[in-house]
Amino acid sequence: MKNFWLKLKKPIIALAPMAGITDSAFRQICKDFGADLVYSEMISVDGSHYKSEKTLELMKFSKKEKPIVIQLFGCKPELFAEAAKLAEKLGADGVDINFGCPAPKIYKSGGGVKLMRDLDLCYEIVKATCAAVKIPVSIKIRSSINLIDPRKKVTAPDLLERIKDLPVAAVMIHGRSYEKGFSGPVDFEIIKKVKQNFSGIVLGNGGIVNPEKAKEMIEQTGVDGLGLAQGVLGKPWLFKQVKDYLKKGKYKEYDFSKIKEVALAHAKLNFKLKGKQGILEMRKHLAWYCRGFEGASALRQKLIRVESLNDIKNILSSHLDK
Ligand SMILES: Cc1cc2nc3c(=O)[nH]c(=O)nc-3n(C[C@H](O)[C@H](O)[C@H](O)COP(=O)(O)O)c2cc1C
Repeated sequence: MKNFWLKLKKPIIALAPMAGITDSAFRQICKDFGADLVYSEMISVDGSHYKSEKTLELMKFSKKEKPIVIQLFGCKPELFAEAAKLAEKLGADGVDINFGCPAPKIYKSGGGVKLMRDLDLCYEIVKATCAAVKIPVSIKIRSSINLIDPRKKVTAPDLLERIKDLPVAAVMIHGRSYEKGFSGPVDFEIIKKVKQNFSGIVLGNGGIVNPEKAKEMIEQTGVDGLGLAQGVLGKPWLFKQVKDYLKKGKYKEYDFSKIKEVALAHAKLNFKLKGKQGILEMRKHLAWYCRGFEGASALRQKLIRVESLNDIKNILSSHLDK
């Protein structure tokens, strides 16, 4: 097995998967700022089976993004095996299984975090995926999910115990329960427990919005690395800041002229890859880039209506001219 995980220098600072966000352009921008590893948006194994054009599009990546992990979601073991084979054929360095997504559409169809309620099915999915490919298989899990009786729950360690005889290379643990969603405190204790009980690579995830939080999670849990998600929205330089802080104990803030440069580079890349659709998708990114400086709110109002690369250039430069 070609296990790229073992070649990564620790702590591994990864871009966690985010549907609608971690597309090829954003992954490349994050790489530029030092992301050691990037995850794709979650890919439907059913979509892959039915050769959905949209799904196949989501699986594309450039060499620059490597090492890249393609994340799969669904609930049928045989379709995970099939999609994993396709990801391997496309040159992905690893495949990841989504056991953490709470989005109603995914949950209702039996995938994502709902799978944590059925550890036997988790086992079958991981087994089928591992057997299908030579590239390493990783999983992404939540700290816990309640059962119908809310006094009983399935925890991340329960899932890892169930699949312990399978060759899973890495785990990204989101330290919030299904019930907690995407905000609020992150349970460092459960992340620490996962690190102590799992022999492969463990990445901690949840609430890393600044370099201080990154250091705190690594020190308090002993994880091999981190998965950054909402903290990098409009702030892909967080990768560099985290690395600088871990290495030198300090990091630089970014001023508007630098932010503008990054936002424009991101927009150009997205336009190159997706045309007009890429510009429309940039609207949300531009709104995230423009936060926390004087005049940001007025700028955001204009940027969420952009139709072309020129609109973006003009609006951003008009702000500097003030
Ligand atoms: C908009 C959005 C989309 C996400 N999409 C995925 C996904 O496709 N697969 C996945 O495993 N997690 C997904 N997540 C969860 C993140 O990877 C991460 O676990 C979560 O946001 C917690 O980390 P954070 O507090 O640093 O944001 C998504 C989160 C957000 C906010």
